[in-house]
Amino acid sequence: MFYYIDTFGCQMNVHDSQGLEGLLAMGGYQKTESVEQADVVVFNTCCVRQSAENRIYGNIGALKILKKQKPEMILCVVGCMASKTGTIAKIQKSYPFVDIVLGTGGLGRLLECINFVKQGQKVYDNSVESRVQEDYYLRENGVSAYVSIIQGCDKFCTYCIVPYVRGRESSRPFEDIVQECSNLLQKGYKEITLLGQNVNSYRDQTNDFADLLRALDALPFHFILKYMTSHPIDFGDKMIDTIAESKNISHSVHLPVQAGADRILQLMNRKYTKEHYLSSVKRLRHKVPDISITTDIMVGFPTETHEEFLDTLDVVRQVQFSNIFSFVFSPREGTPAAKMEGKIDLPTKRERIKTLIQEQEIIATNIAKQAVGKTMECLCTQSGEKTLAKTRDDRVVMLPAHAMQMGEFAQVKIVDTKNSSLIGQLVK
Ligand code: SAH
Ligand code: SF4
Ligand code: F3S
Repeated sequence: MFYYIDTFGCQMNVHDSQGLEGLLAMGGYQKTESVEQADVVVFNTCCVRQSAENRIYGNIGALKILKKQKPEMILCVVGCMASKTGTIAKIQKSYPFVDIVLGTGGLGRLLECINFVKQGQKVYDNSVESRVQEDYYLRENGVSAYVSIIQGCDKFCTYCIVPYVRGRESSRPFEDIVQECSNLLQKGYKEITLLGQNVNSYRDQTNDFADLLRALDALPFHFILKYMTSHPIDFGDKMIDTIAESKNISHSVHLPVQAGADRILQLMNRKYTKEHYLSSVKRLRHKVPDISITTDIMVGFPTETHEEFLDTLDVVRQVQFSNIFSFVFSPREGTPAAKMEGKIDLPTKRERIKTLIQEQEIIATNIAKQAVGKTMECLCTQSGEKTLAKTRDDRVVMLPAHAMQMGEFAQVKIVDTKNSSLIGQLVK
């Protein structure tokens, strides 16, 4: 028996898919890259923007003919989009050939649901919150691992659907996380990424996120400890000192700013100002001079003026982000921003995102050029004809074929750049 899985959305979804793969393997299924060969097809979905949903519905629609030819093939639509209000009705009406719709709270029940379908039933369950057991995760590469530390989100940014489809914040026990990371490092993993919609909200009794990082940093291994995503409001001095004083914590941080104008930030319910964000970045750079900062930016939030967009550009110029993930505002039904007046037209949104991307390209190219001539410790994440390594500040370095082995740390000299990418050579 074979399964085919396609994952949309963020790292949390990628990690959830590893849990689903673990479950399917326990159920006796083998993975196939060919949807035609599959007995079970799983789409693990995202609904953060309309564009994500459109793509997924396109992929579901494309399976209609195959399902007709192979009615015993079990088609499952799971994850965030399945938890969204209205999805079940839409699938029942327009995609009735889907067998299982299972929200974020039901992922651990996938095998059970597959059995229901084999007995001739359909499953429609949009529940949120509960989760796949940690021990089921199927990780393949042996070098980089995701570890989930907090589920859900309580921030309720006015544009965002995540709190509705992922439920309330719930932190995993401190000891469980330390144990899982310790086991992974023991097995030879070299890069651990702690996951949560807002990792800085982590709390277990008296321990906060910085305490967790300190405990993991102290494990007797040489590795890179990453985490995402951080919310600027919860990224304080204790975090900054923790990074500065650590040996294994990555010198990269993903700190979504979203917008530069205070009025827009307030409408978004982000709870910080441009000044607060810039001052956090300043303190961080002071204590960790080589920190690389990446961000998410949204353009065209309702009522955003041209001047307010220029405030966003100003933050981009001042901070000098290593990378920006930029999006145009997409109204999500059920969120406060979807009902706001003053929607920005598509051509304006497109123009703003284009300006932003162009500005960032110049910055990223300059940042890359500044690395030329420097020697830094890198971790090999891909070996072969195409060999890639990562710097401690999470930048990718292209190396000559077979220069390093997967999972190996080595000193690499940056000898050249290609746009914003780094080209390196091993230091013998
Ligand atoms: N928890 C993270 C990321 C959430 S989703 C955070 O707090 O930043 C990833 C990104 O998608 C967000 O940072 C935001 O920039 C973008 N996003 C979320 N909702 C959106 C919407 N309705 N329209 C466009 N972009 C959106
Ligand atoms: Fe969405 Fe805001 Fe929560 Fe991030 S912090 S997941 S943007 S509500
Ligand atoms: Fe998308 Fe869900 Fe992640 S909506 S961004 S997959 S938490």
